[in-house]
Amino acid sequence: MTQRVVFLHGSPRGKRSASLHTARYLTRFLDHDYEFVDVVRAKLSTGPCEAGPAFLKIVERMQAADAVVWTFGAWVLFVPVQMQYLLDKLFAQGYDFSGKIAAAVMTSARAHDDFILDRVRFVSEQLGFGYIGDVSAVGNPFFGYVDDEEATENSCRVLAGQINRALTEGYIPARHYSLVERNYLSPTYRGHGFAVDGSPTPKTGDKTILVITGSRLAEDPANTSVVESIRRYSRNNIEVVELQDHRVGPCLGCYLCDFNGDGICVVKDEYEALKQRMHQVDGIVYIGTCASGMVDVHLKAFLDRTWGIAHNPSLKGRYGFVVATGGGPLEVNAAWYLRSVLGKTGTRCIAALIQSAADDASFAATLRRTVEDLDRALDERWQIADRFSVRAVTLTFRDLIATSGMMLRADYRFHRENKMFDYPSRGGANALLRMLFKNKKLERWLLATQQQQIAGAREKRLAMYLQNGGQLGRGKEIPK
Ligand SMILES: Cc1cc2nc3c(=O)[nH]c(=O)nc-3n(C[C@H](O)[C@H](O)[C@H](O)COP(=O)(O)O)c2cc1C
Repeated sequence: MTQRVVFLHGSPRGKRSASLHTARYLTRFLDHDYEFVDVVRAKLSTGPCEAGPAFLKIVERMQAADAVVWTFGAWVLFVPVQMQYLLDKLFAQGYDFSGKIAAAVMTSARAHDDFILDRVRFVSEQLGFGYIGDVSAVGNPFFGYVDDEEATENSCRVLAGQINRALTEGYIPARHYSLVERNYLSPTYRGHGFAVDGSPTPKTGDKTILVITGSRLAEDPANTSVVESIRRYSRNNIEVVELQDHRVGPCLGCYLCDFNGDGICVVKDEYEALKQRMHQVDGIVYIGTCASGMVDVHLKAFLDRTWGIAHNPSLKGRYGFVVATGGGPLEVNAAWYLRSVLGKTGTRCIAALIQSAADDASFAATLRRTVEDLDRALDERWQIADRFSVRAVTLTFRDLIATSGMMLRADYRFHRENKMFDYPSRGGANALLRMLFKNKKLERWLLATQQQQIAGAREKRLAMYLQNGGQLGRGKEIPK
């Protein structure tokens, strides 16, 4: 009997999306009927408890399906924030998809792809799905298509085969993760406040520390206590940004912040002003409220937008720390995530704190120590070696720009200035490509030609596969 597979497509890059192209390739091998649902075009609201028609329509498609395939480009160590709007609603409104299977097709630059897919497996299982597997492919940002790697094509066929067999046999894979209390996943749940004792430290410092929190403090007792501690124990001036009250929309994935070199985001909202402020201050603190296995959507949207700074870590010389609240056992991952993202901007992250792991008094004492350490780090210019994850991501970007034609200009400058090209790169042809990209007409022609070449090579390999006894699937796209 034919079953249904729904691809939930969450890339803001529309038709140019590499993950969409990859998932479309996979569908050729499905024996079951399938449909694509565009989560970004559904324009879901950020309110986790709101159940508008667009959201209910997606839920209806998910409920009618036997398998769900999350299809997305890696977006700052998780899914694009628009997909998190969906996850937030599913968790907050108590949905459960037990008896169905889930899989993922992700394209990325291979910076922490394993961590991201592991988180997607985790949230899938918390929603009740049995997680069957995933495809991790390299997605080329400029050509809107995956690199012509046979490995990607093979992994698509393998995953399609696993989905086919599971649906035909009614097999649901066992969970990898035990179930976590729903509260910790729901964006409506907040950590508790705690006592902040002791007299305020006199403001003798001349530095400024910018504290960035996603949720509104008036609605978040834990984050309010954390901010109160920073205000009380720091010698320096404290500025607080509550992102929920600022207009910072989702990243569009146009890559122009990298490509144009000046790093300016094309989305006209309050992000650029906040970015500028980050460059004017001395210290930066991120406080994330846990939601959907990551941090709240207001902070996530902001962090997605800092992707350009991550490529050209222009916040070198700043110090900071991160805190995760409201997620119980999920805070460890959220804190690791925040530490990685802050570190990638160039800011030295001196600590990643987790509220729920300790009793209130110990956490308050540790927080106080960290605030005092941050003051010291700023005064004494502490030298701290890069952690492996920060270093590794920097090196991954170096490899990426060497192979994608050094077209990410911001990266190119940073890596050249820091003498990080320590092996022969394909710089010559790429210098020419960069020149061609200055002309819009040539750029369009180049993209179209490249896409045709990649598609042609793929079709040839497919013909060979079929000649050698391989088969296409019997599944058909369900008409809209
Ligand atoms: C804002 C932003 C964040 C990104 N974050 C990551 C990341 O954390 N890890 C990674 O490997 N690639 C990252 N990338 C690269 C994209 O995941 C990659 O180009 C992907 O193929 C895009 O897929 P899509 O075309 O389907 O959107 C990011 C790209 C953008 C624009």
